[in-house]
Amino acid sequence: MSFDSADRTPLLFRNARVLTLAAGGAHTPRRGAALRELGVIAQGEVLVAEGRIAAVGERVAAPEDARVIDALGRVLMPGFVDCHTHACWAGERFGEWERLMRGESYEDILRGGGAIHATARAVREATRNQLSAGLRARLEEALRGGTTTIEVKSGYGLTVEAELKMLRAIQRAAGEWPGTVVPTALLGHAFEGKLDDYVRFVTRDLLPEIVREFPGVAVDAFCESGAWTLEACVRLFEKARKRHPIRVHADWRKSSGMIPEAVRMHALSVDHLEESTRADLELLAGSGAFGVVLPATAFHAGGRFASAAFFVDRGGALALATNCNPGTAPTLSMPLVIALAVRFCGLSPEEAIAASTVNPAVLLGFTDRGTVEAGKRADLILLHHRDERQLAHEFGGNPVALVVCGGRLLPVSPAG
Ligand code: NIG
Repeated sequence: MSFDSADRTPLLFRNARVLTLAAGGAHTPRRGAALRELGVIAQGEVLVAEGRIAAVGERVAAPEDARVIDALGRVLMPGFVDCHTHACWAGERFGEWERLMRGESYEDILRGGGAIHATARAVREATRNQLSAGLRARLEEALRGGTTTIEVKSGYGLTVEAELKMLRAIQRAAGEWPGTVVPTALLGHAFEGKLDDYVRFVTRDLLPEIVREFPGVAVDAFCESGAWTLEACVRLFEKARKRHPIRVHADWRKSSGMIPEAVRMHALSVDHLEESTRADLELLAGSGAFGVVLPATAFHAGGRFASAAFFVDRGGALALATNCNPGTAPTLSMPLVIALAVRFCGLSPEEAIAASTVNPAVLLGFTDRGTVEAGKRADLILLHHRDERQLAHEFGGNPVALVVCGGRLLPVSPAG
């Protein structure tokens, strides 16, 4: 994929249906009715210059040398922000997926040394260059699908050396990609030996190394039967939260009781939520933490979809993400996630769009993206569609015609 990095010619989009998502403060997530307000300019113009959005409106003044792009009435909107992925990995798990499809449980496969352990073995054998090259290829694919900012977790290392190798590989791939990568240290993913000893190793040996080399990086854990227990997660988070934001995977296969603890510890997000109780979802919705819903997981690996509509009704700060990983969600397609969230999680297309752009941008700490407003970073996508609902209505293809990332233009596929 080639960006014309030297070409800084201003870009003027004309005749676009612009989804600005501009209602609301930059630092606050959209909740409730605000999640449905896309701030549409039915026939608008957007000027991009010096990597930023210079002007937005029905008519904007543009310099004479601006390159004019006629949007032909199609939808121009913020690039997707994918706030939960495990996109750095080595190896494959096709055989394991066939076992999952035949009815074996993820937990049994994990306890039997597969799942996260299978990927951890492949990651330990891979070099940092191999890991970053694999991730780089996936980032290219994400960009073609309209994702301009992406979070990538470690977690397949399970040793100090391999976790640092993963985070360094993520850092290297990030530097070679025009979009923005946010790393997360997933320190509580699986464990080897006894969990109690492993938690001691993570808090005493691994965490200090992470603090030293990646100050301020978010720390994550997988609270799930067969993985980390509630008590183990709390031990890690009580140490980590002094210096790091904390995120947690919870209630994927079973309700875990993690949500009250996460709220008490001021977690940044609780992710998955498929088996959360109504009471826990209400508690999370009333807190400052985001709920992150990952519908590609139920689609690919079976099980329930999260009740995102209930969470939104109760005022929750919702984000959607791919959960891209080699076992339970092998996709980088945010359009697919939107299509699934509308069909199976009860969201409207508008809610799903806001939960894939502005809200995950706030979650990841960005005030300069996720909306189409003057002064924001120019991360934009032009769809083939003239009605944004088609983003949710269609599935299986790539609805993105063109991506602008940090002001640089990338044609993706011919106009439809
Ligand atoms: O949430 N922490 C869990 N992560 C993934 C599974 C990762 C894997 O199986 O490799 C999940 O679905």
